[in-house]
Amino acid sequence: MRKNGLVISIDGTAGTGKSTVGKAVALKLGYGFLSTGELYRALAYKVYEKQVPADDGAAVLALAKQLKFSFVRQPDAVLKMHVDGEYLGAKLHLEEVGNVASQVSTHKEARAILTEQMRLAGKDGGIIMEGRDIGTVVLPDADVKFYMTASAQERAKRRVKQLKEAGENPNYDKILALIEERDYRDSHRAASPLKPAEGAIIIDTSSLTQDEVIATVLEKISHYAA
Ligand code: DC
Repeated sequence: MRKNGLVISIDGTAGTGKSTVGKAVALKLGYGFLSTGELYRALAYKVYEKQVPADDGAAVLALAKQLKFSFVRQPDAVLKMHVDGEYLGAKLHLEEVGNVASQVSTHKEARAILTEQMRLAGKDGGIIMEGRDIGTVVLPDADVKFYMTASAQERAKRRVKQLKEAGENPNYDKILALIEERDYRDSHRAASPLKPAEGAIIIDTSSLTQDEVIATVLEKISHYAA
């Protein structure tokens, strides 16, 4: 147990509900919550803005080194991220930014820079960190590790619903193709590929409601917090 509580990792593919679940559980426990994809998305955003080619490892690394991250815990448990003093907010969640994030995240040296920032944010415990390599690389000594999965079709369905609710007119086949492309890249890259950490508790969320997943995660953690 660290100063502020347990260190909990949640890894898994995009769209499995890791963020919603992690945030709800963190709020319940009085912990902070960090969605580490935000750091990759911020780097991707800057890469895009500065027109750096996403496959140029040296240029992406140089940019990553310049970024100044800060995190402040909000009442809803989320660690709100500022990059170079700016809150990038919804801009980070455009489909294109997610795709560039997946590309820049293949660069090992740039990953090391962002990983260091994540470790700093989690050093005192009392944190739930969500991503692709949290239990395997970022926080290998996390107290409780989760790995969440769901079928690509189910995740595409959920994303379509989300986008429709936001007033957009999404195409299911396109979304499914993007999800499959991203899964493939995230789990086949040489640097920190997506895979369950040793000892991770695996939860398939395909046929579970969000509340059921939250209840399962809380129940598992209760064995450690006791
Ligand atoms: O979780 P997300 O969709 O916001 O993540 C965006 C991209 O960032 C994802 O495709 C892969 C990368 N990522 C990563 O490589 N390692 C993490 N710990 C988090 C995200």
